[in-house]
Amino acid sequence: MRVEKLLRYGIPESVIESWRKNQGEELLPLQALAVTKHGLLNGQSLIISAPTSSGKTFCGEMASVANLFKRKKVIYLVPLKAIAEEKFSDFQEKYSELGIGVVISTKDRQEHDRRIEKGDFDLAIMIYEKFNQLLIKNMDILNQVNLIIVDELQMIADPSRGPVLELALLKIRTSKYRPQILGLSAVLSEVDELSSWLECKLLLEKSRPVELWQGILLDGNFFYKKHNSREEGTEELVSLDSEEAHPILFANVEKLVKDGEQVLVFLKSKLDSETLASLFSEKANLPPCLNAIEALSDLENTTLKEKLIGCLQKGIAFHNADLSFDERRTVEFFYLQGEVRVIFSTTTLSMGVNLPAKTVFIETQKYQLGEYSGKTVMLPISLSEYENMSGRAGRFGLEKDFGRSILIAANKFHFDSLWEGYIEGEDEKIVFQLDKKDMEDTILDLITSKAAKNRSQLEQVIKAAPSGRFISDPAFGGALDEKVEELIQNKMLLTTDKGKTVFASKLGTLCALKGISVQTGLLLKRKLEGPSDFDPFSWFYDILDTKDGEDIYINVFPFEEQNKVYEEALSQRYPQSQSTNDEIKDLLERKIGFTHKETQLVKLSFLLSDWITPQNTLNLENKYYCRSGQIDQIGKKASWLLDAACGIARVLNLSRKLIAFLKNLSQGVNFGVDQRGLKLAKLRTPGLGRDYIWNLVENKFSDPKKIKEAKLAELEKLIPTRVAERLKERIHDSKFKVQDSIFRSKKQETRSLEQEGIELVIDGSAVKDKFSVLVNGKRVNLPAKSFKYLIKLTWALFKNEGGWIHKDDFEPGENQARYLHRLKNQIKPSLNQGQALFENNRLGSYRLTIPKKNIELNKDALLKNTDVEIGKMAEGLVIESNGLM
Ligand SMILES: Nc1ncnc2c1ncn2[C@@H]1O[C@H](COP(=O)(O)OP(=O)(O)OP(=O)(O)O)[C@@H](O)[C@H]1O
Ligand SMILES: [Mg+2]
Repeated sequence: MRVEKLLRYGIPESVIESWRKNQGEELLPLQALAVTKHGLLNGQSLIISAPTSSGKTFCGEMASVANLFKRKKVIYLVPLKAIAEEKFSDFQEKYSELGIGVVISTKDRQEHDRRIEKGDFDLAIMIYEKFNQLLIKNMDILNQVNLIIVDELQMIADPSRGPVLELALLKIRTSKYRPQILGLSAVLSEVDELSSWLECKLLLEKSRPVELWQGILLDGNFFYKKHNSREEGTEELVSLDSEEAHPILFANVEKLVKDGEQVLVFLKSKLDSETLASLFSEKANLPPCLNAIEALSDLENTTLKEKLIGCLQKGIAFHNADLSFDERRTVEFFYLQGEVRVIFSTTTLSMGVNLPAKTVFIETQKYQLGEYSGKTVMLPISLSEYENMSGRAGRFGLEKDFGRSILIAANKFHFDSLWEGYIEGEDEKIVFQLDKKDMEDTILDLITSKAAKNRSQLEQVIKAAPSGRFISDPAFGGALDEKVEELIQNKMLLTTDKGKTVFASKLGTLCALKGISVQTGLLLKRKLEGPSDFDPFSWFYDILDTKDGEDIYINVFPFEEQNKVYEEALSQRYPQSQSTNDEIKDLLERKIGFTHKETQLVKLSFLLSDWITPQNTLNLENKYYCRSGQIDQIGKKASWLLDAACGIARVLNLSRKLIAFLKNLSQGVNFGVDQRGLKLAKLRTPGLGRDYIWNLVENKFSDPKKIKEAKLAELEKLIPTRVAERLKERIHDSKFKVQDSIFRSKKQETRSLEQEGIELVIDGSAVKDKFSVLVNGKRVNLPAKSFKYLIKLTWALFKNEGGWIHKDDFEPGENQARYLHRLKNQIKPSLNQGQALFENNRLGSYRLTIPKKNIELNKDALLKNTDVEIGKMAEGLVIESNGLM
C-alpha cells in the first residue's frame, strides 16, 4: 500500500510527504493490513503482535497522527525513560511546528504533569507508572482521550513493570470510558487472552520485513535458521583454535566490521561491556570517532568518560547503565551516524531503541539482583529478551538483505542446549503479574482512583484483572476483607455507613499517588510522628530501609566489610553516638559490626550525603567504587522516597520548616546539588551536569538571572563554551522549547583561537588532608599524591632539559600513569576550553604545558610540608627560577 493512500484517513498531506521523504513510499505489509483490514485508523481497538522490527511502532505513529489532526487527544505509553525521551524529541521535532502540543511525563520529567492532568495537551508520552498515577488522580481524563497506545505491551508479563501496567489497563477496562486501545507487542503465545480481555481485535504476524538469520557459532561455522522461512543453513565465519568465547567473539566482530558492517554485542555485565570494549578496541584499532570524542569532551569528568574516549579513539564504544544519560545519548547518536562501528552493551539497549546492526552477538546470561541475598546473581536471559536483542539486527530501511543474530557455543553440548532453548524456543506465554503485588497496594490504588467504592466492587474489579480471573479460592473474600480492615485501621482508608462505602484518606491518597507501598508509607509516617529530624544522613538511612528503598542497590566489597570502613566512618560522623535516630544509635553502640545489609545502607547514606556537596562526581566514584550513572539513579530513587515523605509531612500538618527541609533534600539528591544549585539544575540543560552546576554556584552564578546578564566569556571560565551557550539559550527561551541536543551544531563564534596559558598558583596550604592550588584563579584541593606529582612536574619544567620528567622519576612502580590521570581529572574542571595540564612524549616522559611565567609558588607553605622531598624541591625552585616568587 502506498503511503499517499493514507490521505483518505485524514492524515494531512504535509505529514504524508514527510513520511514519504524520510521513511519510504510504501507501508510495510503489517501496517497496510492494520490500516485496511483491522481499522487501525477508524478507532478499532487492536493488539498487534509481531516480531521485532516489523513496523509496529510506526503503526502507533500513524494512529496518533490520524487522531491528533482530528483534534483528538492521544496518550502514548512506553516502558522506559530512554524510549520516552526518544519518542518525545521525535514527535516534537516532526509535529510541534504543525501546532500539536507534545508533552512527556517520566519519573524525572515532571514539568508537564500539570498540563497533562488538566488535559492541556494533544499527545502525551508517558511511562506506565506515570499513566497509572494520572488515572489515580483523575480517571475522567479518559473521557478526553481518544486513543491510548501501549508500546511494548509484552512488558505486562515483566515482574517489576508488569503489575502497574495491568492495574492501569484494569482501571480503563472497568471504567465507563472506552478509548481506542492500540497494544503493540512482541510475539507471545496465547496473546488472544490478553486481546479478549482488552476487547481488542488481534493482528498476529509472524514474519519480519527483513530476514533474520538466528543461530550459533561453533568452530568457525555459523549454523542458523532463517526467522521467516525457517530454512536452515551454514555460513563460514572465522575459526579460531580456542574454547574461550572472547577471542572467538573478537576475531569474528573484527572480520564483520572490516567487511563494512556495524555490530552490536550484548553482554552479561556492565563491567564486561567496558572491559571487552577496551580490549577489542586495542586489537582492532579502527579509525577514531572524532565527533563523538568532541561531544564527550564537553561533558563533565567521570571514570567512564575517560574509558569511553579511550575506546572511541579506536572506533568502539560501550553502553551500560553506569554511563551518565548524556554519555549514553552520545554513544547512541554517533552509532546512528555510522561513526561508532561496534557497541559492547548490556541489555540497556535491547528494547525499543532504534539502534540497527547488521549483526548482533548475544551472551545468553545476565546479572540480576537476587531475591534473598541482596547480591547480584547470574541468570539465563529469557526467550523474549533474546528475541528483543536479536531484533536489533536486520532492521527495515537500514538493512536491505538480512541480519544475523549470533550466539557463541563452546562445544557441541553447549550448542545443543542453546539451539533448543533459543533458536527453537517456543514463544513465551504471558504470565500476568498483578496477583504477585501486595494486595493491600492494589486495593489502595483502586479505592483512591474510585475504580471501586466498596468492598464488593473491589472484589469484582480485582477478579476482572487477567491475573485475578482465576481467583476461585473461597478464602479470597476473607483475605480481601482482612486487608481492607487493616487499611482502615492504619488510616489509609476511611469508611462510612459501616463499611458500605470505602474511600482513601489523605494519607492513603498520597501513598497511592506517589506510587509508594503501604508498608513504606506507614514507616515514613511513624518516623514523621516522632521528633523532627533535620539530619540528612538519618533521613537517607530511614528511607533506604523501607520496602521501596530495598532495591536501591550498591555493591559492598569484601574489603570494605573486613576493614569496617563504614563502622569507622559512622562513628566519626557521630562522635558521641549523638544521633537521635534509634537505628543509627543502635549501629553506633553495636560491638560486633554491621550486617551486609546494614553496611549497604550506611554506605548508600554516606554516598547520598556527599552527592549533595561540591565533591566532584569523579571523586565520589573513586570513594564509593561505583559509577556516575549508578549514583544518579540512586539519587533519583532516593529523591522519590523523600518526596513521598515530604507529602506525608504535609498531610500530617507538620512544621513548614520540616516540609521545606524534605523538599530541598528530595530535589537536591535528584540532581546532586544543594538548594543553591536547584534553579540551574531544573533548567535541564543538556551537558550541564552537577559538577558544572557546582562550578557556577560556587562562583556566584546560582541565579539564572545573573547568568542571563553575564558575558559568555565569564561563563566560559567555568564551564565549556558549548554548554555555556546552551545554558544561555535555555534562559532566554521559555518553557516548551524543543530540548536542545548535546550534538547540535555549535555556533561558530569568531573568537580568537589562541588559548591563553593556564595560570597556576601553587599555594600549598593544607586543607584537611589535601593541598590547595589555584588553577586559572579557581581553587582546587589536591590529595597529597596528586599535589606531589604536580610539584614534580613543576620542578622538572624549570630544572630538566626540555622540561620533561620520566615517569620513573615520580616514584618507582607501575602506577604513575594512573596517578597522572587522576591529577589531570582533578584539575580539568578548572581548565578553559582547549587547555591541557601536561603532555607526554609517548616514551614515558611528561611535561607541564604551562608557560613558566604563569606559575607562582607559595614558598612558605611548601617548606612547611611534611614531605621532605617537596620541601627540598621548593627550595631548589625558589633559588633557580626567575618566574617564581
Ligand atoms: N513503511 C515503512 N517504510 C520504511 N521503513 C519503515 C516503515 N515502517 C517502519 N520502518 C522502519 O523500520 C524500522 C522498524 O520499525 P518499527 O520501529 O516501527 O518496528 P517495531 O516492530 O516497533 O520494532 P521493535 O520490535 O524494535 O519495537 C524502523 O527503522 C522504521 O523507521
Ligand atoms: Mg517498537
